[in-house]
Amino acid sequence: MKYVFDLIVAKDRERMVAAAACDFFVEIRRFLESKECVSVALAGGSTPRDFYRYLAAHHADRPEWRKMDFFWSDERTVEMEHPDSNAGLALRELLNPLGIDKERIFAVPVALEPFSHAARSYENTLRKYFKSRGGEKGFDLLFLGVGQDGHTASLFPDSEALKDETRWVADNWVEKLANWRITFTLPLINRSKVIFILASGEDKAEIIGRVWSSTASTDYPIQRVAPREGRICWYLDRAAAAKIPLDQYRPAFGTDGAGEWRLGGFP
Ligand code: 6PG
Repeated sequence: MKYVFDLIVAKDRERMVAAAACDFFVEIRRFLESKECVSVALAGGSTPRDFYRYLAAHHADRPEWRKMDFFWSDERTVEMEHPDSNAGLALRELLNPLGIDKERIFAVPVALEPFSHAARSYENTLRKYFKSRGGEKGFDLLFLGVGQDGHTASLFPDSEALKDETRWVADNWVEKLANWRITFTLPLINRSKVIFILASGEDKAEIIGRVWSSTASTDYPIQRVAPREGRICWYLDRAAAAKIPLDQYRPAFGTDGAGEWRLGGFP
């Protein structure tokens, strides 16, 4: 049975993003042992935002930045300059401050309408990109957040894109937002080699507790993130992890002395 997940529970959000940042570079260096450039798909949301801010503040001088290509696992259908744009967020908080070359940044072409054209165009970009890398089928490293309803990327409960088994990128009507989103589908997400899932705050405790208490169910989109050949690294703060039934895991938990909990586990 292969080792498939890490669960890192840090004291607070700051320590959680610090742990994720250290592990991010461990994974990047591991990929660079066998390739020239690492494909990274970024997420949107306030937790990923704090992660980007931490990276820009504490890891800006890392040489590995010049060996990464950046994509987005989902996007809102707004211009990049709009405060809600996921690409705009990562550019403002991380990629522009680091001076990442524009040819390494692949944003979703949300200006294309209907949004099915934007999704198809981005998928074509990904297919061409992976073909140029010897026919890879998925990302090296992919970031995801988790919503209180268990959505991830822009795969919301009961939304059409959740059922899409053919496309890699889909336009997705989100009823609760009364808006369109562009999102990776599960077939593409689940071909990632390493997935970092970031969640923090007490408002996530309920959903995280449900996800971790019923690993057998697939009631929530985040529970359907299950890379066939990859590994999932969950990064939580204690507030978000408060309802994980630790008694089920305590024997496997180890603490690194700084009060961080690490659990390596199997399905
Ligand atoms: C988006 C994200 C979405 C986000 C979660 C968590 O475009 O909104 O891709 O999946 O990651 O909603 O966001 P918070 O960390 O802000 O709760």
